[in-house]
Amino acid sequence: MTSSQQCPHDSVSVLDDEFLQDPHVHYAWMRESDPTRRVVTVTGLPVWLVTRYADAKAALTDPRLSKDYRGIGRITEREVERGAQRADISESVQAHMLNMDPPDHTRLRKLVVKAFTARRVEALRPRIEQITGELLDEMAATEHAGDAGIDLLDEFAFPLPIRVICELLGIPEDRRDEFREWSNTVVSGQDPQAAERAAAAMAEYLFELVAEKRRNPMDDLLTALIEASDDADRLSGEELIAMVFLLLVAGHETTVNLIGNGVLALLRDPEQYRLLRDEPERAASVVEETLRFDGPVNLATFRYTTEPVMVGDVEIPAEELVLVALGSANRDSEKFDTPDRFDQDRATNGHLAFGHGIHFCVGAPLARLEGQIALRRLTERFPAMKLALSEEQLSYRPSTLMRGLEQLPVRLS
Ligand code: HEM
Repeated sequence: MTSSQQCPHDSVSVLDDEFLQDPHVHYAWMRESDPTRRVVTVTGLPVWLVTRYADAKAALTDPRLSKDYRGIGRITEREVERGAQRADISESVQAHMLNMDPPDHTRLRKLVVKAFTARRVEALRPRIEQITGELLDEMAATEHAGDAGIDLLDEFAFPLPIRVICELLGIPEDRRDEFREWSNTVVSGQDPQAAERAAAAMAEYLFELVAEKRRNPMDDLLTALIEASDDADRLSGEELIAMVFLLLVAGHETTVNLIGNGVLALLRDPEQYRLLRDEPERAASVVEETLRFDGPVNLATFRYTTEPVMVGDVEIPAEELVLVALGSANRDSEKFDTPDRFDQDRATNGHLAFGHGIHFCVGAPLARLEGQIALRRLTERFPAMKLALSEEQLSYRPSTLMRGLEQLPVRLS
């Protein structure tokens, strides 16, 4: 596409719902014509959007692009005074390590990395297999009850990650239903007041649980976080709870969308579905290509410039908000050939779906493991699965940062 062509979307400067339903067509045009540009979000917040792969990678490692929630809060307040609404930043402004710079970020990250080890993730494998098998059985039984197709997100992609997080943290069996309920309310964010009540109930419960784990340490992540220390340095009670919330918020909906977007990519192209079904060892490549092609995080979380910063040819002034378009970077033809094609045989090295630099996703090994098990077992169990709606009938959830479907109705056989 050349810069003389018109963008198909007139209001391309607005990250509105029409844009978010199909961002890739707009990103392609932006990467060509004006790759780092000022846009506004649907709530009227002005931000700089970085769309090229090389610029995105550089921006994610530039220390002058801060993630400090106090700075982001200050700039948002300024924009609210100028007429922006408050909504889309609220998910980002919380005191946890994803919203901090070094040295605070370094300290918290070191402690969580000590507790959230590769060994701990690998140890979850048999339980993830088991939970996946149970959900597949439940799905098969549900479909037999009626033949209108079932929503793969509701029946499978949503319940799997939260059950795994309960397992990982060591939430006792008898409190899991309650924990899942709170978590769904917090993560869905559909009713802000209910979300706040659920978050308060969950925090209270977590304080109790931390006290219990201190008395009776177990082999789980919560106990490991309690015990994680660096010399005399430990997580305080508040830091521990903030960390658990971060793991939950960062790890739930993202994994749901990895499964949903992956299944959709496979169902769109029967050959891609068949390849995985017949050669289950392809699951790792399918997950990587899903992350590149239609990753769960469309835009990385908010950053702001602490001083003027050159991104490509553009100087972003100080004290401006910046969004790095991971979904666009991953479709940049400078980095990936025929980027708009889903191809599980391509080299996906270097995709930015888990971010890059100091905030690179801590949960990536767990997300990969869950995604691989989920997609492999689904194609194995339901070799003839099909979409129950036409592609045009599918829509994406109205979220600025996340990329995930509202529903994914399928027929299992
Ligand atoms: C950070 C993506 C699953 C925990 C991030 C970032 C991205 C990301 C892009 C960096 C954001 C930024 O720099 O603005 C994903 C994707 C996932 C996934 C695509 C699923 C496919 C998980 C899971 C967990 C998790 C399962 C934990 C249970 C975190 C944490 C951070 C993070 C704690 C913050 C790291 C830091 O600030 O140093 N993730 N994530 N994520 N993710 Fe994930």
